[in-house]
Amino acid sequence: MSEKKFEHVEVEKNEEGNYAVISINRPDKLNALTTQTLREIYEAMEQFELDSSVRCIVVRGTKNVTKKAAFSAGADLASPMGKGMKPNIPVHWTISMQQKHRYYSLIEQFPKPVIAAVDGYAFGGGCELTLVCDIIIATKRSFFGFPEIARGIFPGNGGTQRMARRIGVNRALNMCYFGERVSAEKMLEWGHVSYLCDDGEEFEKLVHEKASWLGNGPTTSLLIIKKAVKFGTQASIEIGNQFEMLGFGVNSGSSDVNEGIQAFLKRRETKFTGGM
Ligand code: COA
Repeated sequence: MSEKKFEHVEVEKNEEGNYAVISINRPDKLNALTTQTLREIYEAMEQFELDSSVRCIVVRGTKNVTKKAAFSAGADLASPMGKGMKPNIPVHWTISMQQKHRYYSLIEQFPKPVIAAVDGYAFGGGCELTLVCDIIIATKRSFFGFPEIARGIFPGNGGTQRMARRIGVNRALNMCYFGERVSAEKMLEWGHVSYLCDDGEEFEKLVHEKASWLGNGPTTSLLIIKKAVKFGTQASIEIGNQFEMLGFGVNSGSSDVNEGIQAFLKRRETKFTGGM
């Protein structure tokens, strides 16, 4: 269904067409990420930016597991650096990381809700990818971690920054220093995972349920909630509240507001259209 052709990801809409699923499709490498993979994830999402029928994105590992279940085992350690870049020139690494950071930030700022559906390993850059999604649904057999230290490096795709802000400095330091794997259950307790479930049918059902809810939701409200909660909270409460008030005003321009109120008054089901 995707208009663009991708090598590292697969894209499909659900039956109702109100959410899109982007599957990282490199099962032989446990869905390891190259800059191309990250670019494709973002470009696959970008196709739905102005498509008012698609109101939620799910990012996941492919269902066609060939080795072990994985969301992503992180940066592709076998992949050469970008064109013209040399590993012995420090600034080339900085530029390479900057290119990747760009995609992580674009994914983080995507104007519609993004769910990370995690079944299996979410390590390194894969763990960092979950940090730029809005909701994380993980199976009980999943593990999160930053194994980079064992390779003489560290999480450089926002991991030191976003993880510390998410679960606290102490826990993030433990993950980075010791490369400890943290169970999905623990990550739920620490506030990183949003929902925990069994793998298989229960996982698929829960992902569908949450994505459908958001896919049937009022697009503008969801966009403003995302910006206010994720970015408004990075400023003082006063500035965040001003941001919220302005957002509330902007939201009133959406036809979904009228629909939501009329549906309540007429005691009928709400049918949001994603009116922007
Ligand atoms: N980059 C490239 N290939 C990777 C990879 C990565 N990050 N992670 C796994 N793979 C490949 C392996 O090379 C292996 O390929 P092969 O079967 O052709 O040899 C395949 O995926 C399966 O991995 P394997 O190590 O056999 O599975 P496992 O279940 O024993 O271990 C991990 C899984 C994730 C613990 C282990 O693969 C690992 O530590 N990967 C590296 C994780 C990492 O350091 N990420 C951060 C990178 S900066």
